[in-house]
Amino acid sequence: MQPGAARIGRLVVVGLGLIGGSFAKGIKQSGLADEVVGVDLDPRSCQRAVELGVVDRCEVDLASACVGADVIQLAVPILGMEKLLAALARLDLGQAVITDVGSAKGNVVRAYRDAFGGDLSRFVPGHPIAGSEQSGVEAANAELFKRHKVILTPLAETSPQALAQVDGLWRALGADVEHMQVERHDEVLAATSHLPHLLAFGLVDSLAKRSENLEIFRYAAGGFRDFTRIAGSDPVMWHDIFLANREAVLRTLDIFRSDLDALRDAVDAGDGHHLLGVFTRAKVAREHFSKILARRAYVDAMNSNDDLIFLGKPGGSLTGRIRVPGDKSISHRSIMLGSLAEGTTEVEGFLEGEDALATLQAFRDMGVVIEGPNQGRVTIHGVGLHGLQAPPGPIYLGNSGTSMRLLAGILAAQSFDTTLTGDASLSKRPMNRVANPLREMGAVIETAAEGRPPMVIRGGQRLKGLNYTLPMASAQVKSCLLLAGLWADGKTTTTEPAPTRDHTERMLRGFGYPVDVNGPRASVESGHTLKATHIEVPGDISSSAFFLVAASIAEGSDLTLEHVGINPTRTGVIDILRLMGADITLENQREVGGEPVADLHVRAARLKGIEIPEALVPLAIDEFPVLFVAAACAEGRTVLRGAEELRVKESDRIQVMADGLQALGVKCEPTADGIIIDGVGHGVPAMGGGEVHGHGDHRIAMAFSVASLRASAPIRIHDCANVATSFPNFLGLCAQVGINVAEEVAS
Ligand code: S3P
Repeated sequence: MQPGAARIGRLVVVGLGLIGGSFAKGIKQSGLADEVVGVDLDPRSCQRAVELGVVDRCEVDLASACVGADVIQLAVPILGMEKLLAALARLDLGQAVITDVGSAKGNVVRAYRDAFGGDLSRFVPGHPIAGSEQSGVEAANAELFKRHKVILTPLAETSPQALAQVDGLWRALGADVEHMQVERHDEVLAATSHLPHLLAFGLVDSLAKRSENLEIFRYAAGGFRDFTRIAGSDPVMWHDIFLANREAVLRTLDIFRSDLDALRDAVDAGDGHHLLGVFTRAKVAREHFSKILARRAYVDAMNSNDDLIFLGKPGGSLTGRIRVPGDKSISHRSIMLGSLAEGTTEVEGFLEGEDALATLQAFRDMGVVIEGPNQGRVTIHGVGLHGLQAPPGPIYLGNSGTSMRLLAGILAAQSFDTTLTGDASLSKRPMNRVANPLREMGAVIETAAEGRPPMVIRGGQRLKGLNYTLPMASAQVKSCLLLAGLWADGKTTTTEPAPTRDHTERMLRGFGYPVDVNGPRASVESGHTLKATHIEVPGDISSSAFFLVAASIAEGSDLTLEHVGINPTRTGVIDILRLMGADITLENQREVGGEPVADLHVRAARLKGIEIPEALVPLAIDEFPVLFVAAACAEGRTVLRGAEELRVKESDRIQVMADGLQALGVKCEPTADGIIIDGVGHGVPAMGGGEVHGHGDHRIAMAFSVASLRASAPIRIHDCANVATSFPNFLGLCAQVGINVAEEVAS
């Protein structure tokens, strides 16, 4: 039994089919009701219900069953509700609460109003989303609703006590209860359940009545079987549902009909582009929904708080040759520029992490046909600088600050409005750094308080070029403005206070778009076009950094990281580690698609503490969490200054790392713009074991995974799910090279 569920005296369940029988049996077993009474017109079902322990007693007569009832559950077929409610309204039900299990809610509520007149306070409409191919009281199963959704659709008049009572009963059966408005329920169910059933019944009938049907069905294979499984459902029940939810079904059917007509036209016209667009979008949507559906089915919603824990065990050394996933910054930009180019761009080595996928989905939402990703290969059918279309709704960018800031520049210049949203971490990050200069260019942008997301970007503005000096070293701000500059009148120039990653400038040129770079200044002018190209994304040096540090601090390590991007605006981590005494060599240096690449060979070394040169900070901005781990293992003091930007990353990386390191016994002190860390040096554990928090920040979770190599006991790292934003196979590669970290398996 769930804690907090209020006991009731008498529960009456009218209709002892699968759903009513299962509800009655579950409540009877929970002990929440003093007595469970069944009502069924079929005397056989009544008798079986008592024999099977589904109810305490069963009546064929409604009036005698309902005497003294506290809650009456109506579980009859949906078209029988009207008659049943009319009969109930003639009885003296005292204060009994009435609830139901109908698959459509609008018609039941209408019938209740008609029967009971004005008083709706004791009615709690409900719909359990559960069932099975079996039917009847024999199939009653007390566990049927466990981990299934039950939607309650209380009315404005429903009393809170009545709602709480029904809610409590469902929760006692292990259901995941949600509340929703009647109209919304009927719309959602019409689209996700009723329409697919209509199509399945309709398709099978349409094929079966053709004269050549036998011939057709001989060749029907998996596709036919999968699509039409639900045509085996109970015809009477479904006939009831369509009659009951008529309006909502018609609305969703009409929308689908026009989409189907568009598909027909595309086939007729040989418009492969349209077909590919629909199919690629559908494929990702299906994969996305499958994950949600799988979670519903297998995760215990009651006990799960969605905390993914990594457990890092001490010791070990790193050996071998590995290839880390593709560069995140370059992957984002490949989708953006590929979409805005004329022609088809092929990308290889694309990072299939959630951040880059958020960018990819955003462009799909704006009508760009993108095939893949398939093992790092993506094909983008560019639409040109003026070909984006309004997305169907807000664009959700998950955890990805790069997506939101760079997209803001592109979207400020479009003809349509857009809203950009993100997860809890992204919703806290500052967007005025891009919104303010974009406004100076003529963009109209609204944000939430203090410049936080969501960002609402108004389309149809004419942008003018801007000469802007950045107040902070930020490649995201620089890139945002240069991208907006592709549409702005005249010239757009950014001047940065220190060098930051220049992938946007390089890639624009790769797409044939002129960019003028002069020291800290970069300029673009509108009026040119992007021409499709081939992009090879090198391995991400930011992901490599975890292994560079790991191999440096773990005695006996000798590791090679193949094909890593070593763009000079990104190699601060190598410079800093070398200043600390790391043994890193660059082998096989070459240039791939406009970006320098090398194999990084790293061996264990005796690291020492240093004062990190401030000029290197922007060139290693994402690598500090793991560099702090290196500092904790180095001999002596490491001091970082001029890195206040770390406080506004996916988490406040200065505070969060200081908290975690201190929890493990490392001597360190956060400062306003950096940190001071006193490392213990070579040959001894650098810290104890314990519990730390990833704060939903991928790089914090991975940094503490690396730290476990030099801990004296295991480190449990909470909140690690976001590692998938930048490094999908992190744990796999750790296992391959010899870092002992794995997902903690719930016992
Ligand atoms: C990025 C720039 C950096 C970096 C981020 C990716 C980019 O942010 O931290 O992970 O792709 O332009 P800032 O430019 O805000 O420092």
